[in-house]
Amino acid sequence: MNRLIVENLSAGYGAVSVLRNVSLEVNENEMVALLGMNGNGKSTLLNCVLGFVRASAGRILLEWDGKISDLTKLPPHEIVRLGLSIVPEGRRLVPNISVEDNLRLAGSNPLVSGRMKENLASCFETFPLLLERRRQIAATMSGGQQQLLAIARSLMTAPKIMVIDEPSVGLAPIVVRDVLNAITHLRERSSMTILMAEQSFFQAVDVSSRAYVLAHGSIHREFKRSDGGIANEDIRRAMLGTAH
Ligand SMILES: Nc1ncnc2c1ncn2[C@@H]1O[C@H](COP(=O)(O)OP(=O)(O)O)[C@@H](O)[C@H]1O
Ligand SMILES: [Mg+2]
Repeated sequence: MNRLIVENLSAGYGAVSVLRNVSLEVNENEMVALLGMNGNGKSTLLNCVLGFVRASAGRILLEWDGKISDLTKLPPHEIVRLGLSIVPEGRRLVPNISVEDNLRLAGSNPLVSGRMKENLASCFETFPLLLERRRQIAATMSGGQQQLLAIARSLMTAPKIMVIDEPSVGLAPIVVRDVLNAITHLRERSSMTILMAEQSFFQAVDVSSRAYVLAHGSIHREFKRSDGGIANEDIRRAMLGTAH
């Protein structure tokens, strides 16, 4: 089975321990939400997956097409080569260049630069709005449009698995819905596998197959989707348990 497995992961910054014994998995074509209030370790976990933060214990395994890779032993560029990409917290666009140039910059990574044309076409097919606005300077777009660009940018390395860090930050609730719908569209259109950290928890679980609640660096609850979805009251109670 194709999947990403996080196994008993611990990590932190120097002497500060943040994640303690975290285990979760994301199966091919799933959208899994990682919920938790500010400071519970969501970004640390996503950055461990991409190799930006090192594990102090445990493993992150990519099991894909019969091959198992231990990501905890690899530098970020090797992890990207294996098919992972991140949409970072706060989007991190280059504000004063165009939409297309932001995409081209990501696509100029030597791992993928040979496929620039195809990858750019695929971004524009997935998000036609960005094709219309391809000459627009990134900073002059709305927050929701900038988030779409940040997501499209991470498509430029043609990933199998995307980790998306709080796509709703700073957006009005109605725009949050649009962005989450765009992520759902991407998952359905490209059979993408997605692990998404979110604080807009009701909206995130609406579009996710499963959700984990991270509290103080450990998995506090797991929610699986049933026919009736995931009950808002259960989520609300679990989230209250994560406030500092
Ligand atoms: N670069 C860093 N150096 C030291 N501590 C950090 C760093 N980044 C995050 N932290 C700490 O790690 C904890 C978890 O942060 P983070 O993973 O960003 O949580 P979340 O994404 O859930 O808000 C917080 O206490 C935060 O202060
Ligand atoms: Mg964060």
